Amino acid sequence: MTHKILLINGDGIGPEIVGAAAAVLGALRDRYGLAYESEEALMGGCAFDAYGEPLPAVTLNAARAADAILLGAVGGPKWDQIERAKRPERGLLALRSGLDLFCNLRPAALFSALAEASALKPEVVDGLDIMIVRELTGDIYFGQPRGIETLADGSRVGRNTMIYSEAEIRRIAHAAFRTAMQRNRRLCSVDKANVLETTELWREVVTEVGKEYPDVALSHMYVDNAAMQLVRAPKQFDVLVTGNIFGDILSDLASMLTGSIGMLPSASLDANGKGMYEPIHGSAPDIAGRNLANPLATILSVAMMLRYSLNEPAHALRVEQAVSKVLAAGYRTADIQRPGTTVLGTQEMGEQVVAAL
Ligand code: IPM
Ligand code: MG
Repeated sequence: MTHKILLINGDGIGPEIVGAAAAVLGALRDRYGLAYESEEALMGGCAFDAYGEPLPAVTLNAARAADAILLGAVGGPKWDQIERAKRPERGLLALRSGLDLFCNLRPAALFSALAEASALKPEVVDGLDIMIVRELTGDIYFGQPRGIETLADGSRVGRNTMIYSEAEIRRIAHAAFRTAMQRNRRLCSVDKANVLETTELWREVVTEVGKEYPDVALSHMYVDNAAMQLVRAPKQFDVLVTGNIFGDILSDLASMLTGSIGMLPSASLDANGKGMYEPIHGSAPDIAGRNLANPLATILSVAMMLRYSLNEPAHALRVEQAVSKVLAAGYRTADIQRPGTTVLGTQEMGEQVVAAL
């Protein structure tokens, strides 16, 4: 069976990091017979420039037809001033929601070669392996009403709505419990149930769903405490499950435990395991086009794609082992460099991973 992969470069460093990841896919095909065909489509600021829309219909249709999607990153200062509904980020959100990619898996695992690159002491992060399960198509990101409104007295108010239905909570809770079952069977649900009713319901529903998973130890934590605990003693966590906005914030925080946001991949899955894969970092317009970006998060996103959507675990392992090998050999991009390491550009780092496959 030939997998259909859609490549979406996006903006900023997107073309460089997706280029490096596509070279890894190509090497898997040439050397190990991975059967796939790929196509490219525009999304984000570049799509706005070409079509006047951040998510043109041709891209959405191509995404629907694909088995999996690999995305670089979208956005940049060039598009910050255009009308809100046309901004690059809206394209990404519309794609997540249009494909019903409600389950966002964001691992924060430390490559042992990078223990000293973490902002925390090596003993606090050594062996770290956390999975954040972020709900991705609900919450204050999508809740209505929203907007900036001018009142009768001429002053403005901004409004967003934090809202979760029971069904939305239930399906992400199931996904999180299943993830925990495949790991160390500990699940911490993060909410703000002491203040926000939306997350009071979240806690109730997660607890109910938990009765169906007696082998998983479920705990609950308020989001402010979770932020503190992630920095104080991150190894206490196995799987974390949380809503869209808390997950956005906590996953950036967790990324720094591993040394660089440039290392972390993510998967966004629908109910059938179809998914979009992207690094959790942004489009880094300040270094775009300069061969400076770290392609490893995107390359590791390919590994997640092979595992979660394409059912090719052996190929996934090859990619992950190649990345470990390259790091162990002392190769680094600028964001994770240390004295004594060999600093490479985006393309050269990709070539080292290809060579190590
Ligand atoms: C992320 C990003 C996005 C989000 C932005 C670019 C819309 O920060 O994937 O974490 O907030 O979800
Ligand atoms: Mg984010």
